[in-house]
Amino acid sequence: MRGRMSLSFLLVLLCASNGWTRNEGYHCKQKEGTSLTVLKDKTLVYRSLSYGLKKVLNSVSTRLPCIKRQYTTITLDRTETNETITNNKSDFLQSITGKSWYDAYYYYYKHMLICNQSLLYGLKRALEISPSESLILVYTFGCMADYNDTRLLSEVYTLLEEKKSQVYFLWYTWYRTIKASQKDVFNEIASLSYGGFIDMRMIDYYELWRSSVLLLSKPLNSTLHLLNICLNVTDEYTEVFSVPISLSYLLITRDERVILKFTDPNGNTFAIDNTYYYSYYNYYVRSSSLIKTPAVGSWILTAQGKSLLSVQILGFTGLDKSGNCLDSDCHPNATCSEFGGYGECTCKEGFAGDGITCNDIDECQDDYTNNCDYYYGGSCVNTIGSYTCNCSRGYKYISEFGCVDIDECADSSLNDCDPVAICKNFDYGSYTCTCPYGYYGDGRHCEVNECQQGTPCGSNEDCVKYIGSYSCNDPCSNHTVLNDPWRSTSNIYNSSYSWYDWYHCDYELSGWYRFKGEYDQQIPEHCVAENSCGADFPIWMNGSHPTVSDGIVNRTACSNWYAGCCTIPNNISVKMCPEGFYVYKLQSRPICYSAYCTESNHNCSGLDCTPGEECGIVDGVHGCYCRDSSNTTDVMQQGSAEGKLKRCPRE
Ligand SMILES: *[C@@H]1O[C@H](CO)[C@@H](O)[C@H](O)[C@H]1NC(C)=O
Ligand SMILES: *[C@@H]1O[C@H](CO)[C@@H](O)[C@H](O)[C@H]1NC(C)=O
Ligand SMILES: *[C@@H]1O[C@H](CO)[C@@H](O)[C@H](O)[C@H]1NC(C)=O
Ligand SMILES: *[C@@H]1O[C@H](CO)[C@@H](O)[C@H](O)[C@H]1NC(C)=O
Ligand SMILES: *[C@@H]1O[C@H](CO)[C@@H](O)[C@H](O)[C@H]1NC(C)=O
Ligand SMILES: *[C@@H]1O[C@H](CO)[C@@H](O)[C@H](O)[C@H]1NC(C)=O
Ligand SMILES: *[C@@H]1O[C@H](CO)[C@@H](O)[C@H](O)[C@H]1NC(C)=O
Ligand SMILES: *[C@@H]1O[C@H](CO)[C@@H](O)[C@H](O)[C@H]1NC(C)=O
Ligand SMILES: *[C@@H]1O[C@H](CO)[C@@H](O)[C@H](O)[C@H]1NC(C)=O
Repeated sequence: MRGRMSLSFLLVLLCASNGWTRNEGYHCKQKEGTSLTVLKDKTLVYRSLSYGLKKVLNSVSTRLPCIKRQYTTITLDRTETNETITNNKSDFLQSITGKSWYDAYYYYYKHMLICNQSLLYGLKRALEISPSESLILVYTFGCMADYNDTRLLSEVYTLLEEKKSQVYFLWYTWYRTIKASQKDVFNEIASLSYGGFIDMRMIDYYELWRSSVLLLSKPLNSTLHLLNICLNVTDEYTEVFSVPISLSYLLITRDERVILKFTDPNGNTFAIDNTYYYSYYNYYVRSSSLIKTPAVGSWILTAQGKSLLSVQILGFTGLDKSGNCLDSDCHPNATCSEFGGYGECTCKEGFAGDGITCNDIDECQDDYTNNCDYYYGGSCVNTIGSYTCNCSRGYKYISEFGCVDIDECADSSLNDCDPVAICKNFDYGSYTCTCPYGYYGDGRHCEVNECQQGTPCGSNEDCVKYIGSYSCNDPCSNHTVLNDPWRSTSNIYNSSYSWYDWYHCDYELSGWYRFKGEYDQQIPEHCVAENSCGADFPIWMNGSHPTVSDGIVNRTACSNWYAGCCTIPNNISVKMCPEGFYVYKLQSRPICYSAYCTESNHNCSGLDCTPGEECGIVDGVHGCYCRDSSNTTDVMQQGSAEGKLKRCPRE
């Protein structure tokens, strides 16, 4: 005991005489730290990767300036590897930055659809040439052509066992799916090595780079593998694991939407709720948390939820101060062996320096060291040793997650929706209120919609709701006239049309309409060929037109689209007016380019009308009729400028 104390004292003195002082530059003995290896193919310009890693390495090296590590880059081209090993951070970052865009894209397109990369072989090389306990990042488009080479696979497993390196697969492309058989191998390697298979398309980069900072900050030979489970939880699941010795940290990494609760041997509980991440992406999510100085003994993990649960727990030793320094030798904001226990002065979290000098880190300068704006909900405010977040309206601050959306719909006191309204929360700090069917209003105020309760207007009139009451309107006398020659079924696309002239969309229609051309028009009752009526996807009506005595009837309008004559049906209403024309109640179609077609409802073929007669419909019957031009009020209808058609006086 005494010997130890004096040794430590001696070392401090030695260090001090070696220049362990504030002003003389380099103070600390270099130590070996966790190495970093990147295995990549030649397909992409690795900006996102090199940008993230640059931040990670800068952050690690400001806190741990005396740690030296090996940086390895392996570039894989089918079965060939190109390897660079360096101790220099900048050389390493240079080596993972892709060559030209042209080369990268050329390679990308050439290789994306065939899987011809011996990635397993590349991984074997990575394990061989990386020091033990390295962090190995495999940046891949998801192809491991040699996955079924059993000899290679067993060599890789042996190396994993021997080297205890952690392998993270970072899968980056939308253009390729991974075959299940290959994915099993990816997952198996990730799980065996306490690493991960990370879908970069959905990942939260903040979490990824934060875990990398933690893993690169751990000293060598300080990691204990405590728990590694992957199973389906259907309700509640309990697992016991042991913390065998004093540890500085537990690093808990888990996937998916489960609420984890940890109970330590003294009965203290730590809850880890992952659901915020989930609500944001609605996908696979991975995140990590730390429990500091966990108690020694049996821990109980309880998982609640219905999901695939994957949890890995690593323990870091590091309380050993083995005589190199005492806390009192260090800066007030440093301890001897804070994170990981290198046995030297290490600035506390939030401070950077060599442990003798520690300066506040401005976390707000760097996206990867604060999580305030992670959900686009706030800004960062630096404090000495830490930071806080200024959350925007609709967001609240939770330290582990930053500014997270408030679910205003969870509690009526948080929203101003009408009690009957449907509240919908959005993940970006907002929500909407909508009156349900049977009610009318803006969602803040909803009242009973008489028009949707029974049929207050009878079959001849349309019910129109407004605030406070409703009215019954006859659409024959209150409608909008559409006179668009392009709607005609005989308007068929040909190459002389410019795109601009040809295509139309009915995305603004709402209410009752009458179609007119030279004569009155009707929506065809038959499927219309694509690229007719001024649209890609012309709309017709499945069903027959009503007679006057039918009143208002409901029909289905259909678009002729790729999938057939009746793709994306919608409801319309039709009424035949006594004057012989039709009015339609139409809704907008949110699809472009889709428009209602029309054709003449004066089917005069086969009829031989004499001069003075007009082809038309009276009481639902086509025929030759005469126009009653006597200007009397009983035949003049609102919405109908001409006189009524009527049977001709027979001579
Ligand atoms: C895959 O690569 C090998 C050489 O390693 C080559 O002989 C083979 O033709 C390639 N396959 C495809 C589909 O490109
Ligand atoms: C590996 O799988 C490929 C097809 O994916 C097959 O052609 C090849 O024969 C398999 N090799 C072994 C050793 O099973
Ligand atoms: C880690 O452990 C290995 C084997 O036990 C040993 O060879 C190596 O020197 C240790 N490294 C450090 C930094 O303690
Ligand atoms: C979990 O359940 C799903 C479907 O219920 C199944 O496809 C999957 O293989 C299961 N995973 C495990 C690890 O049991
Ligand atoms: C140490 O950190 C605290 C905040 O955690 C700060 O108030 C104090 O000024 C720092 N001490 C020195 C000497 O920088
Ligand atoms: C016509 O109908 C609209 C609603 O569709 C209504 O606001 C307007 O008051 C009606 N006009 C007449 C003259 O009835
Ligand atoms: C037509 O549909 C509306 C709702 O879309 C419904 O309220 C009305 O009762 C229907 N009319 C008929 C005659 O079926
Ligand atoms: C038109 O409607 C009838 C009756 O609902 C249905 O059987 C038929 O399949 C529809 N036609 C098309 C092309 O969808
Ligand atoms: C017009 O009527 C004739 C005979 O009644 C019929 O054969 C023809 O299909 C109809 N044309 C249209 C466009 O409805």
